[in-house]
Amino acid sequence: MLETFERYPLMFGPTPIEKLNRLSACLGGNIDLYAKREDCNSGLAFGGNKIRKLEYIIPDAIASQADTLVSIGGVQSNHTRQVAAVAAKLGMKCRLVQESWVPFPDAVYDRVGNILMSRVLGAEIEFVDEGFDIGIRESWERALEDVKAKGGKPYAIPAGASMHKYGGLGYVGFAEEVREQEARMGIKFDYIIVCTVTGSTHAGMLVGFAKDGRARNVIGIDASATPEQTRAQVLAIAQHTAQLIGLGQEITADDVVLKEDYAYPAYGIPSEETNAAIRLCARMEGMMTDPVYEGKSMQGLIDLVRQGFFPTGSKVLYAHLGGVPAINAYSYIYRNG
Ligand SMILES: Cc1ncc(COP(=O)(O)O)c(C=O)c1O
Repeated sequence: MLETFERYPLMFGPTPIEKLNRLSACLGGNIDLYAKREDCNSGLAFGGNKIRKLEYIIPDAIASQADTLVSIGGVQSNHTRQVAAVAAKLGMKCRLVQESWVPFPDAVYDRVGNILMSRVLGAEIEFVDEGFDIGIRESWERALEDVKAKGGKPYAIPAGASMHKYGGLGYVGFAEEVREQEARMGIKFDYIIVCTVTGSTHAGMLVGFAKDGRARNVIGIDASATPEQTRAQVLAIAQHTAQLIGLGQEITADDVVLKEDYAYPAYGIPSEETNAAIRLCARMEGMMTDPVYEGKSMQGLIDLVRQGFFPTGSKVLYAHLGGVPAINAYSYIYRNG
């Protein structure tokens, strides 16, 4: 599906799929849970889902002869950390806008985890006092203008690498990769669980899995707490990506399955139930998840299993998209484990 698109390799290769035996058993043993470890996909500053997206965006950045990647996210953005690492690897400069998306009071919130790494990676960082919004931001547009005014050649990467013409391609590739792994493993996944915020991970997957009729088996777990905007953005990216790759199939609003029940109390703030899911997954599987994204999709997965959402015997693939560095910024919550 992606043969005509240029890809700049940034990942180690296909990501492993791991069976979660103890977590499956602990949740009743009627469902087989697996994880696809996108969190271990690259040596670039701990990797994550943006690395897979950037593989299809970077060829365009190189062709444009840009010298600076310009992007935006919250203070503990995983995305901006991954852009900073990719810029370093390519020998480009990196300009990051970090907005105040999360009102979290931990004393080291703006010192550790992702922001620490972005600093060490050499990015130029600007803090902007604006709240959470997954759309195109003025602060980011100002940064692009500023790079130009100083004689640089910026390349624009929006929040989450989502509202970019090639933002959905990486996760179309994820679906292709899963199909190859399924053939080798001799199994087929009935459901895929994905954490959804800026939308192109979910959108790419649903386009990729539409090819074999599984678009609606991709279950998005909203972590934005602004689900209407996220849902609309997933649909827009999926429709654009389907057209771009010549899917030959229409993507409609009904194809976007988004569970809204786990993002509370706000974007970037974990609930007691999210923290319980993080601890259970860590203690059953040694697999770390974070309080902003993957802890919420893990909470959703666990709750959906307990509710009986998945028929007995289902094989469910949890896409672990990374994000663990941010847990350092929440040290007080986990001071006793
Ligand atoms: C760890 C992690 N999980 C999930 C997501 C959500 O992906 P997307 O923004 O493509 O919806 C992100 C980024 O926003 C992330 O960093």
